[in-house]
Amino acid sequence: MEGTRLQSKLPSVGTTIFTVMSKLAADTGAINLSQGYPDFNCDPALIDAVARHMREGRNQYAPMQGVPALRRAIAEKFAALYGAAYNEDTEVTVTSCGTEAIFDSVAAVVQPGDEVIVFEPCYDSYVPAVELSGGRAVVVSLRYPDYSVPWDEVRAAITPRTRMLIFNSPHNPTATILRESDMKELIRVLEGSDALILSDEVYEHIIFDEARHQSMALYEPLRARSFIVGSFGKTYHATGWKIGYTVAPAALSAEFRKVHQFVTFSTNTPMQYALAEFLSAARGYPELPAFYGRKRDLFLRLIAKSRFTPLPSRGTYFQLLDYSAITDEEDMTFALRLTREHGVASIPTSAFLYNQKAPKVLRFCFAKKDETLEEAASRLVKL
Ligand SMILES: Cc1ncc(COP(=O)(O)O)c(C=O)c1O
Repeated sequence: MEGTRLQSKLPSVGTTIFTVMSKLAADTGAINLSQGYPDFNCDPALIDAVARHMREGRNQYAPMQGVPALRRAIAEKFAALYGAAYNEDTEVTVTSCGTEAIFDSVAAVVQPGDEVIVFEPCYDSYVPAVELSGGRAVVVSLRYPDYSVPWDEVRAAITPRTRMLIFNSPHNPTATILRESDMKELIRVLEGSDALILSDEVYEHIIFDEARHQSMALYEPLRARSFIVGSFGKTYHATGWKIGYTVAPAALSAEFRKVHQFVTFSTNTPMQYALAEFLSAARGYPELPAFYGRKRDLFLRLIAKSRFTPLPSRGTYFQLLDYSAITDEEDMTFALRLTREHGVASIPTSAFLYNQKAPKVLRFCFAKKDETLEEAASRLVKL
């Protein structure tokens, strides 16, 4: 508008690295191991179920809080896996993806001037959500190379203004997981504080080597102050469906729903019914550790003779590779060159960093067909 000076509410935000790298991969014909989504289809039976519900007429607005059958199935899953009792009517809300669930949780409780502790490398939607609510992100750096949580620094970062801490396990982009000892430490660190937790558990079912996912729901002192976010996109190989959820104690869920009802109001109806069928039958997710564990191992075997050095991938469908034996380039420079000259797109971890200098690692997504991984690896071993 002429004469009006538009002041951005998010001046430091540009196009996300995922969009940039996926577009570059498309433009150059590179194999896209950058953005985190499968290049194979979801279960045809799930698609059939959606189509059936559409044909049967379930095509109008779903209830604001989600279809009852799906909320029930989510509550039952938390009871079965984590021994946590969530009331399906007051404590479970279906959202239009994990990103919406994250945004609504932050918007529901963060007030201007509040501090929110985030951990870098940090998923890119957290800090903008905090800043749009007038909060201030306090960034704590995970310790490279094992990306462990520096609990002494977390303790020091907590102040009376700390409204929330945002955790993500299994963790994107590092593929690390929280351990039982971390959860015990977190309970101790939060004693005497009113801080809430936003726990991004969208990769809860993609965890390897017999490890148990450490949900906040497993520990009553943590559960009582947590918004826990899930995403069916990750679990059912359907990231484009954009359906997720939040579980949280009733008082938190009530505030959460006030935001949700004015952000999207409600979520895609036939897909909720189809997902409810699968989830209530414990279909699709119990096999994910073996399914993705095999893909991780295949990818690692295929690049074993390369000059990349893998960091441990304990969960998610990402693998960090250290490239310091190949070049001294900064990660963004190398990621661009790797895409343009060698035909493999990845994500530089600098995109997830605020304070720390980026280490010489790139993130590769192995949620791909075996032949995609084979072709990508054949290019990576030539470097
Ligand atoms: C850590 C993390 N949280 C949240 C999301 C968003 O999930 P959704 O696709 O359901 O919005 C992603 C997607 O990549 C993610 O990696």
